[in-house]
Amino acid sequence: MNADGYITEVAYPDYCHPFMAPVWLNYVAARNGVEPRPLAPGFNYLDLGCGLGLTATTLAACYPQGRFIGIDLNPDHIGPAAARAAKAGVDNIELIEGDFAALAEDAVPPLDFAVLHGFYTWVGPEVRRQAVEFLRRKVKPGGLVLASYNSLPGWASIAPLRELMRAYVADVQGGPLEKAEAARRWLAQLARSDTAFLRDHPQALAEIEAMQNQRLDYLVHEYFHRDWGLFYVTDVARDFAQAGLAYVGSLPTGTNDPALSLPASLQGAGQTSSRLGLELLKDFANNERLRIDIFVRSDEPPLLGPLRASLYDGLYFGTALPAPDPEVDVAISNRVVRLDHRDGPARATFDALAAQPRNFAGLRSVLAMPRSLKECCATLDSLLDGGQFRPFSTGAAPLQIAPERVVMPSAFNRFILSNEGKPRDPVLASPVAGDGIAIDSFAGLALRAYVEGGRSRAADLVVPLFAATGEALIVDNRIVEGEAASAAIRAEMARFLDLYAPRLIQLGIVAPT
Ligand SMILES: C[S@@+](CC[C@H](N)C(=O)[O-])C[C@H]1O[C@@H](n2cnc3c(N)ncnc32)[C@H](O)[C@@H]1O
Repeated sequence: MNADGYITEVAYPDYCHPFMAPVWLNYVAARNGVEPRPLAPGFNYLDLGCGLGLTATTLAACYPQGRFIGIDLNPDHIGPAAARAAKAGVDNIELIEGDFAALAEDAVPPLDFAVLHGFYTWVGPEVRRQAVEFLRRKVKPGGLVLASYNSLPGWASIAPLRELMRAYVADVQGGPLEKAEAARRWLAQLARSDTAFLRDHPQALAEIEAMQNQRLDYLVHEYFHRDWGLFYVTDVARDFAQAGLAYVGSLPTGTNDPALSLPASLQGAGQTSSRLGLELLKDFANNERLRIDIFVRSDEPPLLGPLRASLYDGLYFGTALPAPDPEVDVAISNRVVRLDHRDGPARATFDALAAQPRNFAGLRSVLAMPRSLKECCATLDSLLDGGQFRPFSTGAAPLQIAPERVVMPSAFNRFILSNEGKPRDPVLASPVAGDGIAIDSFAGLALRAYVEGGRSRAADLVVPLFAATGEALIVDNRIVEGEAASAAIRAEMARFLDLYAPRLIQLGIVAPT
């Protein structure tokens, strides 16, 4: 544990969070009337409290023109993070070990983007104050900041469990992992007993159940640091205002639309409330637990409305899905909403973007429909809220049939898919999407086989690659072995080549030779 009560003996899990990509911050900005940051000429991006640095390293591999910096005080994070970046050939990232507040002033350049994910809740008031002061000094005018935190009221009935866990483990022998394990067992025992608090707070009971399947290293970092702040959106906006940072909007994208994030009975309420009042109302309506908020460095409050379409003009949009579904159910906060894009103008936009990523101006020109800019923006917003499409950093050619031979240009992606990388559920860098693209473990093996053996030999290669993982093959909930397993894997490989490979070419993850 360091002097600030922060546990350093247990590393944080090695997560990649693609939503921290510049394209997402830019999109939320444009959607809320704020100028996106230019990407093509280069930019400076900081991940404060970067953990093992997988997000920042993946993003650095997506944007060779960007300068990326990750700061973390834990040497067990920065050491492996720097080693991975070096092995993966990513040289536009600097991973700095240390307390951000103690760094030399010139260690971090003026920033276009700064992200603090999993940070603000878990440090004390003095470190939060220093973080705000750091952002005030470092973020350029017009720069964008993403901060996530545990929010109220969503944690109101779960927060007391933390006090109980910490009190229980005070005398338990062992390190943080053993203590977290003991605390989890203790809560499970309480859940089976007649505890009025749990009877009166079913959400706390459900959380105890969920904890039984959560990783212990995650539980250590969620509940056992000395400090743990739960905030209303209004608290954080007030803190960030000290750094000249104004609230812009939030992720996931659907939370920016009151029509999706408020129940019908509260729809009108948004119009009578201030922007932050509306956000707070949404958090009560949805019992929100985690907010991911975007801020802009600006002395002016963000503009809303009239400029929006012109702000979209320079943005690109596309999909990473092999075949997006035009009708989807999406969970926005704790609310499930059906979005239907099967017909009309939404369908035309859907089809145009499913075929090829384009910028907003290019999209409007192919739609050939007399529609207002406002409607075009709203349709796009809805397609992003449905998760079928996402912001891209550039355009690409239409889908093509997967050719006989491809190469994987990015050394980072080659490393991730190698046995030394993170081949289970890998997240690959797409320079076209400007974002990490998650694929499943089988698709990772299939991609390796395709690159190594070409289209004609990929199936021969993927069967032994799969066997080497030692995993059982499950088809229709049954374990399949022997010849039947080989046939099923070959069929999956054919599906990969038809559906996934063309999309991976479009995303710039592989390229025809
Ligand atoms: C919960 S982890 C989140 C890691 C990563 N951002 C993610 O979301 O996967 C928070 C990180 O902040 C780092 N941290 C906490 N206080 C810090 C400080 N004062 N200076 C630099 N890093 C700090 C911790 O070491 C830890 O790795």
